[in-house]
Amino acid sequence: MKDTVAPYTTADGRQIGDVLMDMRGITLRFGGVEAIKDISFDIREGEIRAIIGPNGAGKSSMLNVISGFYNPQDGEVWFRGAKRPPMKPYQVARQGIARTFQNIALFDGMSVLDNIMTGRLTHMKSGLLAQAVWKGRAEREEVENRAVVERIIDFLEIQAIRKTPVGRLPYGLKKRVELARALAAEPKLLLLDEPMAGMNVEEKEDMSRFILDVNDEFGTTIALIEHDMGVVMDLSDRVVVMDYGRKIGDGTPSEVRNNQEVIDAYLGVAHD
Ligand SMILES: Nc1ncnc2c1ncn2[C@@H]1O[C@H](COP(=O)(O)OP(=O)(O)OP(=O)(O)O)[C@@H](O)[C@H]1O
Ligand SMILES: [Mg+2]
Repeated sequence: MKDTVAPYTTADGRQIGDVLMDMRGITLRFGGVEAIKDISFDIREGEIRAIIGPNGAGKSSMLNVISGFYNPQDGEVWFRGAKRPPMKPYQVARQGIARTFQNIALFDGMSVLDNIMTGRLTHMKSGLLAQAVWKGRAEREEVENRAVVERIIDFLEIQAIRKTPVGRLPYGLKKRVELARALAAEPKLLLLDEPMAGMNVEEKEDMSRFILDVNDEFGTTIALIEHDMGVVMDLSDRVVVMDYGRKIGDGTPSEVRNNQEVIDAYLGVAHD
């Protein structure tokens, strides 16, 4: 069966597992615009998978299909060996998929801590009634949620700004808080839409390190969209290249870098 491809070992000795997410023949249309045209690719357990391509190629649309924001007109989404029926984003989140957005989506007036706590919502089982009836359980849940969030705050080194309203933070730190909120969901698969866009060199280095650490220490599988080819080459195990909604390349960073169609469509031209 296609979704039990043998695990493999990367050049630097990391173990990559079986197929976690399998996108099969995905087509997504907006009216007359075909944003994704019959694309198939997979994401394996433990890998960092990059999606690259020019502006308007369909990269964000692809993440939006994975996260359940859009349901494709054609094709199948397989997750953890099962075909996924059309789902709402909150249902996908409950399956263990979290994301950040190309344009930061945080609550500016709320503190860093409270923003990150919103990432725990998918784990909260106690509704208001349950909280009234089973006070103990709700309290235990609250303690557990706090502990997860505190661990992530330490991990991403944002203790000093925990009480700061997000709206007052510089851009680079907002992006880090958004990553923290996504991690608070303890996702199996983390989707990052241009996590380093608009950052200076130092901020990019910090973010790259955090992404690698998340992958390494939590074992989180990561799919990320990124324009900076240096970052893509450094971080990713495999790369999917999109252009005008089509897939034009798929392989290790060095394979796609030497792919003539990829060079012509993307690598050979200036882009942001
Ligand atoms: N909600 C929408 N309604 C209509 N068209 C859309 C919508 N979202 C995306 N598109 C169109 O789909 C195509 C792919 O857009 P998408 O945002 O996925 O590209 P992208 O590769 O993420 O680009 P960028 O690098 O600029 O972020 C574009 O032509 C875009 O205009
Ligand atoms: Mg995009």
